[in-house]
Amino acid sequence: MFPQNAWYVACTPDEIEGKPLGRTVCGQPIVFYRSADGRVAALEDFCPHRGAALSLGRVCQGKLVCGYHGLVMGCDGKTESMPGQRVGAFPAIRAYPVIERHGFVWVWPGEPARADAALLPALSWADNPQWAYGGGLYHVKCDYRLMIDNLMDLTHETYVHADSIGQKEIDEAPVSTRAVGEEVVTSRFMDGVMAPPFWQANLRAHGLPADQPVDRWQICRFSPPSHVMIEVGVALAGRGGHQAAPEHKVSSVVVDFITPETDTTMWYFWGMARSFRVGDAALTAQIREGQGRVFSQDTAVLEAQQRNLTLHRHRKLLKLNIDAGGVQARRIIDRLIAQEQQPQAQPQVQLQAA
Ligand code: FES
Ligand SMILES: [Fe+2]
Repeated sequence: MFPQNAWYVACTPDEIEGKPLGRTVCGQPIVFYRSADGRVAALEDFCPHRGAALSLGRVCQGKLVCGYHGLVMGCDGKTESMPGQRVGAFPAIRAYPVIERHGFVWVWPGEPARADAALLPALSWADNPQWAYGGGLYHVKCDYRLMIDNLMDLTHETYVHADSIGQKEIDEAPVSTRAVGEEVVTSRFMDGVMAPPFWQANLRAHGLPADQPVDRWQICRFSPPSHVMIEVGVALAGRGGHQAAPEHKVSSVVVDFITPETDTTMWYFWGMARSFRVGDAALTAQIREGQGRVFSQDTAVLEAQQRNLTLHRHRKLLKLNIDAGGVQARRIIDRLIAQEQQPQAQPQVQLQAA
């Protein structure tokens, strides 16, 4: 179950370079491609002739051509032509609202009339020369909400990521969770601790000592439908922690765009935006590799968890205080789904006396 009236990350521009991409978003198979005017188009991945997947075709001079019998599709979902056939009466297929922004292609799987570009998340780090970004994509065989639970409770770092970002103080530091409008924020601050290996490497890259105590923070922000941005970092102890001047800290935003594919599978667009050494491409690659390793550890846990939950559908799970972030995020998701399922109010018909 997922909210449909929302923008989801569908793909990155490199995935539609010169070819169509088939991707299922919120249970709907969609084909993405770059049309003749350079804009991204998103159509139902279903050829109106015999139902072939259009994503198996090709893009010819900005037009999507079905790979089965050569039908040519328009970006609006109407058939344009087909070799040797008259196509005027072919039924149109569905065209989805789609926008390319912040280095991602976003799709709106719900009602097209409600798609509004102003509802895209504002990302202060995107398209900003003061920030560098590196990231990747994983296909994960679990309910997307398990990934939200995972990211809204970083207690697991001590156990799942012991060799990179985990440390015992995470367990010991209290976690606070609050809902601010439609956002859920979970935060944890650890003062005067030694940096774990991932942060030691970043301190060194920034020219700071890695063998001294630091103040560490993790501030996880969930916003609907399924985005989680996490402010993370360390500052030399006693320099103001999260608020320390840039020369005393290394900090970044862990970027998580979670796109449901089916009820038990998802696309995970992960990355990290940082505001230190932004011109250092080797550092971007190094962080990306480290982060990719960390997230593959999560993926293994979540896929096994999903297998368990599928096998034991009716078993009750426990909720501890560390689970509050995920629980509150799910409440918001449930409310949005319930709103979408309510019958739309019918417009009032005004009867006027003749
Ligand atoms: S199924 Fe697409 S052209 Fe025949
Ligand atoms: Fe993790």
